[in-house]
Amino acid sequence: MNNIEHFAEILVDGGVVAFPTETVYGLGANAKNDAAVARIFEIKARPRFDPLIVHVSSLDMVNQVAASIQPIQRKLMEAFWPGPLTIIFPKLSVISDLVTAGLPTVAVRMPNHPVALELIRTAGIPVAAPSANPFGRTSPTTAAHVAEYLGDKVDGILDGGPCAVGLESTILSLIDGKPTILRTGGLAIEDIQAVIGPVHIAPPNDDLPQAPGRLQRHYAPATPMVLDPKRAIKPDSTTGLLTFTGRPDEAAFKAVEVLSRSGDLKEAASRLFAAIRRLDAMGLSLIVAEPVPDEGLGRAINDRLQRACKRG
Ligand code: TXA
Ligand code: MG
Repeated sequence: MNNIEHFAEILVDGGVVAFPTETVYGLGANAKNDAAVARIFEIKARPRFDPLIVHVSSLDMVNQVAASIQPIQRKLMEAFWPGPLTIIFPKLSVISDLVTAGLPTVAVRMPNHPVALELIRTAGIPVAAPSANPFGRTSPTTAAHVAEYLGDKVDGILDGGPCAVGLESTILSLIDGKPTILRTGGLAIEDIQAVIGPVHIAPPNDDLPQAPGRLQRHYAPATPMVLDPKRAIKPDSTTGLLTFTGRPDEAAFKAVEVLSRSGDLKEAASRLFAAIRRLDAMGLSLIVAEPVPDEGLGRAINDRLQRACKRG
């Protein structure tokens, strides 16, 4: 039995395992097993009102989860799956209310990672999985991050290397028939619009129970962090800098993380969470963060930066 078969068996038996996806590491359980899904919430200390994304390995498997698929959703699945796009469907009753937090809908995606796809295919079940971090913390982009966060609590961690995208999936819902982005993420809105035309971006809203991935304070480091678009804060020996391409006075900070010297938003996205973690581990008094251009993946990067800066 190879490693993936071993982990698939744990899932089938009701266990909880961390696995790699192209976006971030997920914490997976059988989406049809209430007790297994309940353990995800326990392990993450996640509020029960925060629904999970169900991961599938084939278009066929969507039919085990979703009650119906609209033509526009089919178009999106064909264009972007496997990939960092989560689509909201009306749910089938086999999917537990725990997964969907009592909503009549279910969030589904097909991850673009060979290990994730083989795991789900081998287990033969839809896999409910949030990001593999304690609630409110930065999502893990390596197996080592997961081990630090939750190592002693899970039934296993499947190592598939660092995540290529590094931001959680973009979540799209058809609210009143209108394509609406509930969470910006690893698939750029421009790419979605090229396929289905204009989409609406829902404003962040702490009161919306179905979208805690959009809670204002989320993805947070323990160190205070501020966004400083105008470079108004002067460097000093206790502060750290999170910068997109670098800046002339960067050496005056105690620590510096450059997301992409060449200004590549994709590279910046893939490095973002690990960079925040490294700065957070340095005992700094403050992390000074610079926004990135607000286009393509930059929108999701800025969204995560803003929320990492909010104090709870
Ligand atoms: O890239 C990703 O999406 C990663 C990997 C592991 O797939 N997963 C992830 O899951 O980011 P999580 O639990 O951290 O975020 C899931 C978010 C929820 O917080 C909620 O905002 C949204 O998905 N969601 C889930 N089900 C929903 C539903 N039925 N309606 C609206 N939003 C939903
Ligand atoms: Mg999460």
